[in-house]
Amino acid sequence: MAKFPENFLWGASSSAFQIEGAWDEDGKGKTVADYNSFKRSHLQADSKVASDFYHRYQEDIKLMKELGLKIYRFSISWARIIPDGDGEINQKGIDFYNKVIDCLIEHGIMPVVTLYHFDLPYALVEKYNGWEARDCVYAFERYAKVCFQAFGDRVKYWQVHNEQNLMIRVDERMNINESDPWKADKIRAQMDYHMFVAHALAVNACHELVQDGKVGPAVSSTCTYPSTNKPEDVWAAKMNDWFKTNYCLDMHYTGEYPGYYMRYLEERNIVPIMEEGDKALLKSAKMDYIALNYYRTLSVSYLPVDEQNPIGSRVFPTNQVDFDQYGYFKHDKNPHLEASEYGAQIDPMGLRMVLNEYYQRYRLPLIVTENGLGTADVLTEDKKVHDDYRIDYLRDHIQACALAIEDGVELFGYSPWAVMDILSSHQGFKKRYGFIYIDRDDHDLKNLERIKKDSYDWYKHVIETNGGAL
Ligand code: BG6
Repeated sequence: MAKFPENFLWGASSSAFQIEGAWDEDGKGKTVADYNSFKRSHLQADSKVASDFYHRYQEDIKLMKELGLKIYRFSISWARIIPDGDGEINQKGIDFYNKVIDCLIEHGIMPVVTLYHFDLPYALVEKYNGWEARDCVYAFERYAKVCFQAFGDRVKYWQVHNEQNLMIRVDERMNINESDPWKADKIRAQMDYHMFVAHALAVNACHELVQDGKVGPAVSSTCTYPSTNKPEDVWAAKMNDWFKTNYCLDMHYTGEYPGYYMRYLEERNIVPIMEEGDKALLKSAKMDYIALNYYRTLSVSYLPVDEQNPIGSRVFPTNQVDFDQYGYFKHDKNPHLEASEYGAQIDPMGLRMVLNEYYQRYRLPLIVTENGLGTADVLTEDKKVHDDYRIDYLRDHIQACALAIEDGVELFGYSPWAVMDILSSHQGFKKRYGFIYIDRDDHDLKNLERIKKDSYDWYKHVIETNGGAL
């Protein structure tokens, strides 16, 4: 029987642009996430209505309470608080999140908040291409301070950026429109660095402004296996993890890029501009915990450089999330794992491994802030969703958490993706993750009715028994 600590934080997660809708209501500005979703409006659902949480949060929070959630992890939309990113503060935006936070607390649910989940105010892109400019760092610091001051009396757990390490790989999310791969990588390196500086400023501001506040990053964890036991493939697997995730955690933890990452930046000739005083700032910002998102594992082999492709350049055209890179790694299918219909290689043991690895490296408390199975669900005529495949996925991953706790990992919460069906970042409403079915299709809003899936009842029982009845 799985064993969890008594005060274990069972939760569920979401993000602003994927759940709220009301994309331009009450003064909210357009975001990069809106912009990207509108590009695909003719193909699938966009962020205009999403799950309509903005108008239905009371009903939704009642369902969260009935589910037994101890925490709800969600994000604040920067452009709802400061519509153009660095100008006037929108009181109506603050009012909305105050209402959500108060309603959660009334229902006995602790709010856990992310400041930035892929949705940079678009006005900052128009002004100076967002994170490419140092100004964006200070705009973010100001936004973070506004949030800490407005909500810090009630919100004690904060995450700064959701998946900086994944976001930075995807041109669309960063608004990198550069066809020359070297120039794109140069911009990317500068943006990434600016986000680290912004992270450090936000961590320090949280400690200053939020009494008993706890703050950290939410990383997209990677667990990569070598496709063979050839030493160069083993090295490639390590590089895939170090290069895509660990460099980011190390930067947060030590305030410096690790040597292999500096080497990459130098070899590719894309070392970002760093200002005097940054090092001290980066070193001063101490994260209190690490939030991690986990969906699948990867398998890679070594990809040698050749005459056309210098070290550090990416394979083109490339899947940006799991890009292949010359002199480093290329992705393979793992014949030992089943994959979801969207190619995610399902692997609960990988979760146990990353939890152990991050804990052994940093000795900081950990929380899983995303984990889940994205797939189509079928609503039966009598309005049921029999999602036993999701139950199986979650059961196996919760068991992996229990094993990690037995291994000595200080894991204090598990908050899967997602509390209800929300806009998938690439597949609209075709790909669903929630415990609650939202009755809408990509282009037919229907009545947006909330319908509990079988996984809702199952997870409710898991929480009631503190993981005893998996
Ligand atoms: C995570 C993101 O990387 O993956 C979420 O933080 C996202 O925002 C989730 O929704 C699942 O990805 P997708 O593309 O299936 O929605």
